[in-house]
Amino acid sequence: MADSKHRRPIIIANWKLNGTQAFVSDLLTGIHQQWGGVHKAEVVVCPAHVHLAQAANEALAYSNVAVGAQDCSQFEEGAYTGDVSAEMLHDLGCQYVIVGHSERRRFHHESDAQIARKFDLVHQAVMTPILCVGESPEQRQAGKTLAVIKRQVTAAIEGCGIEKMARCIVAYEPLWAVGTGITATPEQAQEVHEFIRTLLGDIGQCVRIVYGGSVKPDSAQTLFAMPDIDGALVGKAALDADSFIQICRAAE
Ligand code: 13P
Repeated sequence: MADSKHRRPIIIANWKLNGTQAFVSDLLTGIHQQWGGVHKAEVVVCPAHVHLAQAANEALAYSNVAVGAQDCSQFEEGAYTGDVSAEMLHDLGCQYVIVGHSERRRFHHESDAQIARKFDLVHQAVMTPILCVGESPEQRQAGKTLAVIKRQVTAAIEGCGIEKMARCIVAYEPLWAVGTGITATPEQAQEVHEFIRTLLGDIGQCVRIVYGGSVKPDSAQTLFAMPDIDGALVGKAALDADSFIQICRAAE
């Protein structure tokens, strides 16, 4: 991390729709065994909902690993079959909740307004929302990247108020990099991160903005060296303790 940064680096593992209870135990044990050398970075793991209680209990053994959820309901409580509320997640020991991941926007047609509502509920439940934003390959090719990012960030600001943005993490995850093996260059990511910070105005300097999209051990260091990249949201490379810890160490 660049020395000029006063924001604590944060590395978040998004395990997506993967694993069994045994896999969760093995992965957390592997992270614990290789933990040496991770002092400065905050580390968060986001398993599937059904593994959250287990992960929260097991991660307690490693004081530096926090647990987050991959999504929450846009409703507080009531007749919403299959939903899991922000309050329930907090009750299980979660400290973070990812909202607006591109896979939720794409496969579940979540709108900016629904995402803003989830963001607000995560706040109300005294957890930290991780707001994902990012453009499609077509939008990038058409030169619309910054316009798309502005729309997504502004929807959260307008829906929740700028004060609440001060306690959130923004994840820039370009769709053309998520799960494709293609990592944005440090310069491409830095341009968007700097823009997001500007959109946040006065509070921008305090908000951690992380990059996600095919982050690997060999690309992490150069990404984290950029002034506005405060960490990473890691998918595939976080399913292996060794590569995940290497990424965490790169943020030191
Ligand atoms: P990959 O690291 O597998 O590209 O996934 C990124 C992501 O979507 C994290 O939320």
